Amino acid sequence: MTIYLDNAATSFPKPDSVVKAVEQTLRHNAANPGRGGHHLSLEAGRLVMETREVLANLFGIGDAASVAFTANATEAINIGLFGLLKHGDRVVTTSMEHNAVVRPLYALSQQGVEVVSVAADRQGRVAAADLMAACCPGTRMLVMSHCSNVTGTLQPIEEIGPWCRQRGILFMVDAAQSAGLFPIDVEEQAIDLLAVPGHKSLLGPPGTGFLYVRPDLHLRPLIYGGTGTYSSSESQPEEMPERLESGTLNTIGLAGLKAAAEFLEQTGLERIRVHEQALLAQLIEGLRGFQQISLYGPLDSDHHGGALSLAAEGVDPATMGFRLDREYGICCRVGLHCAPQAHRTIGTYPIGTVRLSPGYFNTSADIDRVLSAVHELVV
Ligand code: ALA
Repeated sequence: MTIYLDNAATSFPKPDSVVKAVEQTLRHNAANPGRGGHHLSLEAGRLVMETREVLANLFGIGDAASVAFTANATEAINIGLFGLLKHGDRVVTTSMEHNAVVRPLYALSQQGVEVVSVAADRQGRVAAADLMAACCPGTRMLVMSHCSNVTGTLQPIEEIGPWCRQRGILFMVDAAQSAGLFPIDVEEQAIDLLAVPGHKSLLGPPGTGFLYVRPDLHLRPLIYGGTGTYSSSESQPEEMPERLESGTLNTIGLAGLKAAAEFLEQTGLERIRVHEQALLAQLIEGLRGFQQISLYGPLDSDHHGGALSLAAEGVDPATMGFRLDREYGICCRVGLHCAPQAHRTIGTYPIGTVRLSPGYFNTSADIDRVLSAVHELVV
């Protein structure tokens, strides 16, 4: 039997309603939305609009048109960063970022953008006071993850957002590991740009995601092309979301994402979070008992996203991951998790860790089996 504990990479399995929505749309309405007047195109357009609305509702977004669909959170982050930052701008970030933030910022630094990185502590937590101190003076944007993909550490975005808003600093949140698990409200948390993947805790299909853009911000598009609107004009439309959505949308994926967002609404984020945190607490408690195991990140499951990193004395993480898979059918992710700076911060660079990331469909019995497998491998 397979036990999937790699939900931080992508959630699996997906709710049945998501699978059905994808299949039904692919079978019965795979027409191009916004590209024709026939009834199938109109239906596809309606589906896309409804998906935008259900997501807007989930994230406290007043105007659904400020949601631009993307293929994933990485694309959303790139659109936000390259769309706003230019030579001479100053941007503040943290030492816990994924390469989805690190690499575009590095590329921008080569184009004359000043990038300042604020160090987190060994638990992966960045102090709000340190971020605030680093922002002064003259910072254009603060970009940070809400929750680490390596340690599950939650960052204090509630404190940071309103503080940035008062000072005219743009606040961009990478919600790759928190969207669908922790409540996010762009109005209450004063988030100007929010990057969300559809395929992680939102429980939607891969190839989906979005960028929320505060309605008065005007981004340079990353991609130019057909939008189905103003077709006689050579210039890109000004309006959102078309401005940032050139080319045919992934309607099939969006049908799944809509079903996923409805599943989350019906189930309730809190119920999902309580279940995942109970599994995490069981993992932490079970693993704490092994002298040979080091756990990274906060060990308080209440303020922890769904990823736990560990290393076993004298056992290479890659070997451990390989043996967990081959001998026990346990799927997890090992190594640097595309976040080398986060591993430097917690002291696990360059070998990295074994990351266990439970999801909504895991059970307590799964965790018992993982604990006994780890016991056999390290004791
Ligand atoms: N960013 C994803 C992870 O952490 C893929 O595994």
